[in-house]
Amino acid sequence: MPKLIVVNRAGEEQEIDGETGLSVMEVIRDHGFDELLALCGGCCSCATCHVYVDPAFAGALPPMSEDENDLLDSSDHRNETSRLSCQVQLTGALDGLRVTIAPED
Ligand code: FES
Repeated sequence: MPKLIVVNRAGEEQEIDGETGLSVMEVIRDHGFDELLALCGGCCSCATCHVYVDPAFAGALPPMSEDENDLLDSSDHRNETSRLSCQVQLTGALDGLRVTIAPED
């Protein structure tokens, strides 16, 4: 079971158990982090699931689609580690992934 380390907007870190096949957004939401609104439910149309991903895992992440890229562009808080967490499926290669919930736009 891949572990996920989630840092909330207050900077508090928590390690949670993920499940292969779920998206990072689903795992975070299922663990009760209400800062991650995920308003569209994961269909890549809201950008309220924006997270910053530990650059150490950049090579293990799925490629970014054009839609995800466009949506992230609408955020004032985008940086080079930004991803929409609903677009990242958890795999064994992402065990120990550290994500930080981005500020609200
Ligand atoms: S949950 Fe809406 S874009 Fe990810």
